[in-house]
This record gives sequence, structure tokens and C-alpha cells, in this order.
Amino acid sequence: MTNLARFRHFVAETSRAVEASHVDEAHLLATLTPLLVDLVALDDWLPAAYAAPHPHFYQQYLLYGDPLDRWSVVSFVWGPGQQTPVHDHTVWGLVGVLRGAEISTGFAQASGGRLTARPPERIEAGTVVAVSPTIGDVHMIANAHADRTSISIHVYGGNIGRIRRHVFDAATGAAKPFISGYSNSTIPNLWPADEAA
Ligand code: FE2
Repeated sequence: MTNLARFRHFVAETSRAVEASHVDEAHLLATLTPLLVDLVALDDWLPAAYAAPHPHFYQQYLLYGDPLDRWSVVSFVWGPGQQTPVHDHTVWGLVGVLRGAEISTGFAQASGGRLTARPPERIEAGTVVAVSPTIGDVHMIANAHADRTSISIHVYGGNIGRIRRHVFDAATGAAKPFISGYSNSTIPNLWPADEAA
């Protein structure tokens, strides 16, 4: 049995925070960060269907999508050695590691479009980092482990699977349009009740 009550609490509190904060991104991220820290502090709630790796591709399962597309929360499941391309988001995002560990490498964009990598940052389980166009939006994330699955919970300021954004060639900085979609084909907004609800 998974403790979905904790996840539903996160969804309710995040909805309230987004509703109350239309313009001040810094205030919103400061409000949401401790909620996500609490959510990833215990690995007891994510249903197995949303924690399943794929042998070749990292998976991104939509866990909840705001009906007004103001925010979404996604589980990213990284098989051994899997990683994203260099990409942006165009909206704010929070990444909290639930299981294992990840390596996040941020990139600074020069005026000609060239990218300069910042030192890679290892994100351990229980830790949350932020991205956004105002604080740095271009990065890549990799599973820190070559022999096991890692999972992180990502919260975004929009319906991230439907947003037109970019992947980048790390060497040249060349950008290509990109819409990520989701790995799951059903929308799990109606979570089953559990005994702790
Ligand atoms: Fe990202």
C-alpha cells in the first residue's frame, strides 16, 4: 500500500500556493520548495506504475495536471546511465530526488547562443533544486548511478508535457523545438483512495 495521502496533500497545498501567487516567482518557489522537500523525504507513496523504468528511455509520468494548466507534477524515472539532452523549460521548475541520486549540469547562454557548462551538481535523495528563465533554465540531468534506477519528482509552472521548448546541441548551442509529452497514456487525476486519506 502506498501512502497517497501525502501526495494528495502536496497537490492540495501546491494548488493553494499557485492560486495565491500569480506574479512573484521567487515567493512561489520559496513556498513550494519545503512542500517538495517533505514529499521526497519519504519514499513510501509513489505507485509502482509511475516508478517503472524503461530499458532505453528515461520515463516521465504525469502524476497530476492542474485543470487550468498552471502547474503539473511528473515522476522522472531514470534507468541505469540514462540522461536527458540539454534542454530548457520556459517556466519555473523544481526537481526533488525521491530515490537514488542525479547529476544536474546547468548551462549559461552567451549572446551568440553558445552554451557554457557550470560545474555538475550531485542531487541526493531528499534534495530539491530549482530552474526557471530568471534563475537559469538550461540544464541536463543524468542518473548518477550506472547500476540502478533513480527517480525524481518534478513540479513545473505549466503543463510541461505540452509546452513548446528546446533541446540544445551542447557543442554549438544550436536549439531545436521540443515538446516532451508524457510516458503515460492515461491522466491519473483521480487517484484511488487509501487507508490514510
Ligand atoms: Fe529539466
